[in-house]
Amino acid sequence: MAGQLRFDDQVVVVTGAGGGLGKAYATFFASRGASVVVNDLGGSFKGEGNDSKAADVVVNEIKAAGGKAVANYDSVENGDKIIDTAIKAFGRVDILINNAGILRDVSFKNMKDQDWDLIFKVHVKGSYKCARAAWPYFRKQKYGRVINTASAAGLFGNFGQANYSAAKLAMVGFTETLAKEGAKYNILANVIAPIAASRMTETVMPPDVLALMKPDWVVPLVATLVHKNNTSETGSIFEVGGGHVAKIRWERSGGLLCKCDDSYTPSAILKKWDSVTDFSNPQYPSGPNDFLTLLEESQQLGANEQGEKIDFNGRVALV
Ligand code: NAI
Repeated sequence: MAGQLRFDDQVVVVTGAGGGLGKAYATFFASRGASVVVNDLGGSFKGEGNDSKAADVVVNEIKAAGGKAVANYDSVENGDKIIDTAIKAFGRVDILINNAGILRDVSFKNMKDQDWDLIFKVHVKGSYKCARAAWPYFRKQKYGRVINTASAAGLFGNFGQANYSAAKLAMVGFTETLAKEGAKYNILANVIAPIAASRMTETVMPPDVLALMKPDWVVPLVATLVHKNNTSETGSIFEVGGGHVAKIRWERSGGLLCKCDDSYTPSAILKKWDSVTDFSNPQYPSGPNDFLTLLEESQQLGANEQGEKIDFNGRVALV
């Protein structure tokens, strides 16, 4: 079809591609010409057990439709083996979709070390290991695309998901740093907070809502972000599901600038609490240097008669 985004000659690694979102990505990329590594450990959604069938079923489906795919059954904790599968089968790797995931939901009061550790092993260490193994290839060929998978639970917190939330927000910092380190080599990294019907969500959402949340409807954004035509969108967070696609960014309140002397006391901050939390003059920081600029500005501020000054960004300075 004219104007269709194609992935011919590209090799895509999709982790956790035996079902849910991962399967939707894998079948899509294969249908658009890519060679796909379908990775899946094949365990339960709680991270127990393993079964090669999960990946095999998707590979067979892709091949039956005329596509190119190979299965990999390793845990993402062994990301180097997954990338090796791509190199051995197809000779390269262009796109990595870090998607594999599990849940160990439990209230924080009852959380055990095992619940915490397993979530971090799969989501954080798994994403790291796959990206780390792909990185030298991406750098050498001066081309790479990474999608990491966060969650609304990570961005906003969610009852019973302290482990999962922490791991999912880790995906944001990880992505932002990969974007910065990869820029010079045309490696773009973005992170999504998806929402979709899958075995993970089938027990927490009613059937009529699930019907609106097909995994297929997360795919177009991911495909756009990893396509070679995307030459600039990187280090970004997207919320996607049910046909909704939106970018999320950090917002800093106008804030309070305090002179660092004896006047900088808890009660001085409390007196100006409204300024600390006032978002009427927001800033949108994108890196640690933004904070240094802010401090530099604070040196230049003087007092008015009330002992305070509004700087050009609307921040109130205590002086
Ligand atoms: P799913 O349970 O259908 O798919 C996850 C896949 O990952 C499974 O096939 C599973 O076998 C595989 N997997 C688990 N641990 C693995 C490991 N160590 N190594 C290799 N494969 C492994 O779940 P779904 O919904 O498709 O989730 C995909 C990703 O999206 C996950 O990272 C999840 O946390 C995230 N997510 C999903 C949301 C949703 O609404 N479905 C919401 C927010 C985030």
